[in-house]
Amino acid sequence: VARAVIAIDGPAASGKSSTAQWVARELGFCHVDSGSLYRAVTAAALRRAIPPEEWTGKQVLDAARSVSTTPAGTSVVPLIDGELAEAEMRGPSVTASVSRIARMPAVRAWVNEQVRRVARDYDVVADGRDMGTAVFPDADLKVYLIADSWERAKRRLVQHLRRLPTPEEIAAETDRLVHRDALDATQSVQARDAVLIDTTHLLQEEQVERIVALARAAIRRPASG
Ligand code: DC
Repeated sequence: VARAVIAIDGPAASGKSSTAQWVARELGFCHVDSGSLYRAVTAAALRRAIPPEEWTGKQVLDAARSVSTTPAGTSVVPLIDGELAEAEMRGPSVTASVSRIARMPAVRAWVNEQVRRVARDYDVVADGRDMGTAVFPDADLKVYLIADSWERAKRRLVQHLRRLPTPEEIAAETDRLVHRDALDATQSVQARDAVLIDTTHLLQEEQVERIVALARAAIRRPASG
């Protein structure tokens, strides 16, 4: 039986990963966040103390050998040297250098292989930039999430600071996001057959409900429960 694949793509801080995780839980699928794999490889490369400007594809692939994956709850998550490194992977030095690594074709091939391997074993909800194009062109459902950059910046800050950010903080974060969007632009493509969802005015719960309904219709399986 072919496994079901739901591909969720979109720009930085569009709420892809948390939405994808929730959708996976609702459907009983496995969630895999391809961005976390790019982050893990970047963190592994940074641990080798070579300046990012000097990284070669070969060095980065070599660093990728210390990255493995493991099931955690309803997700498959990366380990670096056999350990979870969530804080390191989400930290500023990884965020500053990950685009450089995500541009390397050999690294993209490596990440894509990890994601496809998960999809051989499980029905998946995969999120990233190119899940519906390069990785799963035949996905059962493709969703492209967008949101206004001010709103994305605000959501990200609320998550990090756990308080309401000031307008100045939101403005500065918006600049950083727009800069990252530009760095990721080549990789971030909306598939022609993707359903575009603008989440600017949606609650996360509403996004999840929509995607779950689309997924159930696409895979024609009865709702559970
Ligand atoms: O979604 P994120 O911020 O965790 O992604 C981290 C980086 O990886 C970001 O620079 C975009 C890149 N990325 C990519 O090029 N392709 C993907 N499928 C997922 C992420």
